Amino acid sequence: MLDYMIERMAKKKIGNVKFSRTKPEVPNDKDEIGLYIHIPFCKVQCPFCAYIRYPRNPKLERPYVEAVKKEIDLYRERLGNVKIDSIYVGGGTPTIMPEGIADILKHVGNDFDVSSDIGVESNPDDLNEKTLALLLDAGVSKLSMGVQSFSDEILKGIGRRSHDAKQALDAIELVMNNGEFDTFSVDLMFSLPTQSLADLKRDLDIAIGKGVPQVATYPLLLFPYCKMYHDVKENKIELPDKKVEKKMYDIIVNSFVDAGYEPCSVWSFTKRGVDKYGSVERDEYIGVGAGAMSNVGEYFYANTASVEEYIQTLGRGSLPITIGAKSPLEGIAARWLSMSLYEMGFDRREFKKRFGIDVDEKFKSFLRWLKIFGIIKVEGDHVQVTRKGMYPLHLMTKTFLLTFIAKACAACMENPKPLNLRLG
Ligand SMILES: C[S@@+](CC[C@H](N)C(=O)[O-])C[C@H]1O[C@@H](n2cnc3c(N)ncnc32)[C@H](O)[C@@H]1O
Ligand code: SF4
Repeated sequence: MLDYMIERMAKKKIGNVKFSRTKPEVPNDKDEIGLYIHIPFCKVQCPFCAYIRYPRNPKLERPYVEAVKKEIDLYRERLGNVKIDSIYVGGGTPTIMPEGIADILKHVGNDFDVSSDIGVESNPDDLNEKTLALLLDAGVSKLSMGVQSFSDEILKGIGRRSHDAKQALDAIELVMNNGEFDTFSVDLMFSLPTQSLADLKRDLDIAIGKGVPQVATYPLLLFPYCKMYHDVKENKIELPDKKVEKKMYDIIVNSFVDAGYEPCSVWSFTKRGVDKYGSVERDEYIGVGAGAMSNVGEYFYANTASVEEYIQTLGRGSLPITIGAKSPLEGIAARWLSMSLYEMGFDRREFKKRFGIDVDEKFKSFLRWLKIFGIIKVEGDHVQVTRKGMYPLHLMTKTFLLTFIAKACAACMENPKPLNLRLG
């Protein structure tokens, strides 16, 4: 019952958005903004992958890097002397082109005043001494690595063909022995086909045993454009049911808490005393690259997902934006609140500062409901998600991603032709 209520509420409050082909009005009065850079290429296409990515095509890599640099220049014209206070390079697989990343990051530094950590996503099979040195030299200080599971059988079952468990373990050792990154996080997945509770526990114990500073554990989320989504629909693959997923989630939280990790989000756990690895750390950011999404002012919008259209449009000096949604203040505040709850809590004064109204006034019944069910506790101005509240928030985040983000990704794939626009 609680599951049902939570899913309905999340859909209504944050998933109920229409994307259209409207020109976003990017404000030019920002002091600080985050930057997301999307590298949409992978050596192997994982059938479960929820992201915008394509098979590696070395011929497109250089033109793609040049197009990203051009897009950064166009934002520089629009945004002026804004400070970039968060940079995150995601994919796809950024580390298949470390020289390209270094080139883009240097360009960002030439165009903008950068005062931020730089985070990059990686695959285990790309990591070696040379790539680590290139990334560090380019200013990268936060690294995450997708492992998904330490079981060869499960990796095979989910079609993860780019590496095996041993390569993942070797790559973890390489990064940890290098010791130069400020933060290092490993991604695992749960609720996977054929995965038992014991399989999951083994994966967690290995990550903990290796002393990985942060571990993100993502439940498998299948978007309609994933190959595995169709395999499940056609009963070719069976997934653990909701009850098993709940047990898995409990095992995850208990294992990390018992081992001295703290939840820094509903799906991530950091060793006590270690800096947290986060992706885009700001609620306002511009996204560059094919399929990248931006969240600026009242607008949430996406670039064309087609790499060819992306490169051609920037060649004409236009931004490759294709769809967007304009949110009323209430929608922006609801998304901020849901992100903050995903990250385990927030300060009420921060909400007031951003939105000019008390959170208790704006979301009175929602917050009362969260308190009644023991999902949050309030201490002074601090609103904290409780241990009991983590599973309901896991459900809420899943619903948000399966509705809002899935809708945005699908819309930018369905509209490969960008609006021919300049931000005047
Ligand atoms: C964008 S991927 C990039 C990292 C890198 N390419 C890799 O696969 O290791 C970031 C993480 O998202 C997670 N992920 C990808 N598809 C997912 C899905 N359908 N459901 C849940 N998590 C997913 C995986 O844990 C992956 O490591
Ligand atoms: S999970 Fe990572 S490697 Fe696999 S297709 Fe997605 S982005 Fe590429």
